[in-house]
Amino acid sequence: MNAAVPTDAISLNAPEWVQHAGIKSWVAQIAALTQPDRIEWCDGSQQEYDRLCELMVQAGTLRRLNPAKRPNSYLAWSDPSDVARVEDRTFICTESAEDAGPTNNWMAPAEMRRTLNGLFEGCMRGRTMYVVPFSMGPLGSPIAQIGVELSDSPYVAVNMRLMTRMGRKVYEVLGTDGQFVPCVHSVGKPLAAGQADVPWPCNDIKYIVHYPETREIWSFGSGYGGNALLGKKCLALRIASSMGHEQGWLAEHMLILGVTSPDGRKKHVAAAFPSACGKTNFAMLIPPASLPGWKITTVGDDIAWIKPGKDGRLYAINPEAGYFGVAPGTSEKTNFNCMASLRENVIFTNVALTDDGDVWWEGMGPAPAHCLDWQGKDWTPESGRKAAHPNARFTVAAVQNPAIDAAWDDPAGVPIDAFIFGGRRSNTVPLVTEARDWIEGVYMAATMGSETTAAAAGQQGVVRRDPFAMLPFCGYNMSDYFAHWLKLGRTLEGSGAKLPRIFCVNWFQVDENGKFVWPGFGENMRVLKWMFERLDGKAQGQEHAFGITPRYADLAWNGLDFPQERFERITRVEAALWEQELALHDELFEKLDSRLPAELRAVRQKLAQRLAA
Ligand code: OXD
Ligand code: MN
Repeated sequence: MNAAVPTDAISLNAPEWVQHAGIKSWVAQIAALTQPDRIEWCDGSQQEYDRLCELMVQAGTLRRLNPAKRPNSYLAWSDPSDVARVEDRTFICTESAEDAGPTNNWMAPAEMRRTLNGLFEGCMRGRTMYVVPFSMGPLGSPIAQIGVELSDSPYVAVNMRLMTRMGRKVYEVLGTDGQFVPCVHSVGKPLAAGQADVPWPCNDIKYIVHYPETREIWSFGSGYGGNALLGKKCLALRIASSMGHEQGWLAEHMLILGVTSPDGRKKHVAAAFPSACGKTNFAMLIPPASLPGWKITTVGDDIAWIKPGKDGRLYAINPEAGYFGVAPGTSEKTNFNCMASLRENVIFTNVALTDDGDVWWEGMGPAPAHCLDWQGKDWTPESGRKAAHPNARFTVAAVQNPAIDAAWDDPAGVPIDAFIFGGRRSNTVPLVTEARDWIEGVYMAATMGSETTAAAAGQQGVVRRDPFAMLPFCGYNMSDYFAHWLKLGRTLEGSGAKLPRIFCVNWFQVDENGKFVWPGFGENMRVLKWMFERLDGKAQGQEHAFGITPRYADLAWNGLDFPQERFERITRVEAALWEQELALHDELFEKLDSRLPAELRAVRQKLAQRLAA
């Protein structure tokens, strides 16, 4: 943006530990445009975190929870209009619309800059602009990237401290001229002199804007989650996927977990699921007692950055340092490790407040007789509405997870042995299928779908195609993204490397009463065990049109009463359903036609032939 360098009206106030001239002049430029009352350079310290939280308690943005129940924890209730990512207001602004592709909202950069200049001019009046330096990935890791977010929201500053490696040490890595991704964020609610603030300022006009070619992020109007914590979806996925495309690596919407077998051997798996498919549960899975000796450890719960190493294997890091997870549905039964992570030092957003100063959400356990819902209104089990917003969240540092992997912070990353792709499908897609090769695996991932409405008994809901679970997060043309995956496979294979295997899973098939057939949660360990043994060349499976699926006898069943007939029901490939499915794949391919790699069309043809046979 071409704002003039600041007037004397505001002091830049840069501390002596910021020696990066480029950052200082950029901060001055944005301050001149947005006109905050003051600038605060975040150092990432505990004192700063505590002070900002206290400031927000005073302002009514946060409530301090009962320290006896939930030490050092807070609750925020957002404006009811600002409760989730706004995909329809999210833009990828490349010079050519075709480079953003048909799955992204696009506007020409010059036009978007004009629009945003107007919106950002004076938008921080009456507020403090926080300078938030952060590293996505372990500080100094060759896979990490640094960003600096300028935000007029103290809620953003404290959440970024939990979600990223944030603070003064980032400047040590940057030195005087290191590269960073500039991120500008405003809630879009300037205050006139003497005007009282509201607890959750935001604006009805919202823009979440990415310029992949110049690697900038601008976000206006929302204070919530991925709209505002710009290291997460904006940098770590949209901008990073475009960087990876240029530089030969991958930024993926994937959890990373370690699987250790009873004989102490460890493998690593990266898994992509669309939002709301139980990713955090899978990343923190506790194997059933009937499978003794198996252990799961969490490297990451949402995003993976993956680069080829010198040995030709793919190495992954979790670029984040915390979890911004969905609270409703989380309980000690469904995710014990997650609940253990949430005992203290947590920021909750849009959950309910109990009368004894703790939090509650649907699915956590027995409902309280009375509480305040996420809008601060009296709530009882008879109220007939949800106490917590369905997208209510917790923000917590990853180190609080009792199942954290010892290598979660290793700058070198962990070697990936397998990729898993899974959607929420009430039928059609088997419990687990192994792709016969890399290209078939890329096809499976590219055509992945998830049902957006709860399926009625025996019926399929509306399937939203969500290739690689990246539909809202791919920062460039989705067909080019498929081609990038295919090229990476060819390059690695050409170098003689052993490629990770690719699996497709579906935990969500339902029976005629609409009930899930597969028990899921910890029992998913049985599927992981089969994969582990496939990687060792030990487990068997049966080949079908779509790939390779275990037979009943190929899975371990000790300790689980799961009849063969039910297993067969969720692993069979029904030709009639698959014909419909292929027609849906065609719809996706039509949309992506102009740059769709020929290899994927060829897999589709082979699938059709196998089905016909
Ligand atoms: C998330 C999402 O918040 O995928 O992780 O929506
Ligand atoms: Mn996610």
